[in-house]
This record gives sequence, structure tokens and C-alpha cells, in this order.
Amino acid sequence: MKLYYNPASPFVRKVLVVAAECGIADQIEKEEIALTPVNSHAPLNSENPLGKIPSLLLANNESLYDSRVICEYIDALADGGLFPPNGSARWTALRRQATADGFCDAAVLVRYEGFVRPSEKQWPDWAEAQLKKCRRAIDVLEKDSASFGDTVDIGTLSVAVALGYFDFRNDEEAWRNNAPNLAKWYEGFALRPSLVKTQPV
Ligand code: BEZ
Repeated sequence: MKLYYNPASPFVRKVLVVAAECGIADQIEKEEIALTPVNSHAPLNSENPLGKIPSLLLANNESLYDSRVICEYIDALADGGLFPPNGSARWTALRRQATADGFCDAAVLVRYEGFVRPSEKQWPDWAEAQLKKCRRAIDVLEKDSASFGDTVDIGTLSVAVALGYFDFRNDEEAWRNNAPNLAKWYEGFALRPSLVKTQPV
């Protein structure tokens, strides 16, 4: 399997974390590409019309995207048990994943606004609105973290990846001051080898 990847992308990291948790990280060959919303990559475009990473090329030449589909594929392949099959555990895990992924979407847009968009075209109110989404997600996760316990599934792994990306690109936010319970949970959870090995660079 070949994964188009960039080590800074939180969505790529989520895939690598899931692969590590499922014990199949060594089956994934990685091809690093540098992407922005305005520079495309022809080989990737031919496999994923959206031209986005992560995108996984399978041995039978089929492609899978986006990160949610790839994570579910890896989990099914390895019988990883990271997607609760039914009941409230499933919907809780998927909601946490959706919150974390939306948080990453907003944080990545802030990054693009500040570092990719030409300064004369930047719109500070728009970037601030994206940051507010991140902060609201943290507020919700702070409340939710009371019930994280020692759960390791697609929900909690996605939350850890989102917080890792926020620390990586928005460390001035000091989110821990407003989310002490979430911060305490993250301090321990971030020590999982799957997260340590995949820290963004
Ligand atoms: C980043 O540099 O923050 C980044 C790179 C690739 C995808 C998303 C974010």
C-alpha cells in the first residue's frame, strides 16, 4: 500500500496513528508530497480527483480517500477494533472523530490563511472565525473528556491528533488554561507509542 503523505498534515497523522495502533504501519510505503490548496500534484490527482492527502493506493491499484475511509479500511484489514461496531459506543466515537476532524479542518484553514494566502488578500475576521471553531471544539471536548476514561478508539485517537496539530501550529492559544481536564487526559494519552512516533514536523 502506498500513502501519499506530508508529515505536517493532521489527517495523514491520523492514518499513521491508526496503522500503528493496528500493528500494520510497516505495510505502508510513504511518498511525501508538498501540497497547498493551489499547487497540485499530477500523480495524486490521477488517483484522487480531489488532489488531497492522505490518499492510499492499494495493491490492486484502487485508491482510497479520505482519512476517515482509510482509517476504517486499515482497521477492517487488521481487525483493529478501533471502530466500535454498534450501539452508543459507535456513535460517541464517530461524533468525537467528527468534532476532531472539523477542528483540524478549521486549524488547517487558519494555517493556509496565514502562510499560503498572499498578505494583501488575507481576511483576519475569517481566520478568527476559524479559530473560534477550534475553541468551541475544545470547550465541547473538555466536557466530553470526563467520559474518555481509558477508551482507545477512532474517537479518542482523532481528538489527540487534533490537539497535537493545534499545539504544532497554534501554540500561542494556550488552550490548556480553559480545558484542564482535557489537558490532563491528553498529557497521558499522548505518550502512546503511535502518537509519539508520528509527531508532526
Ligand atoms: C501544515 O503544514 O500545517 C499542513 C501541511 C499539509 C496538510 C495540512 C497542513
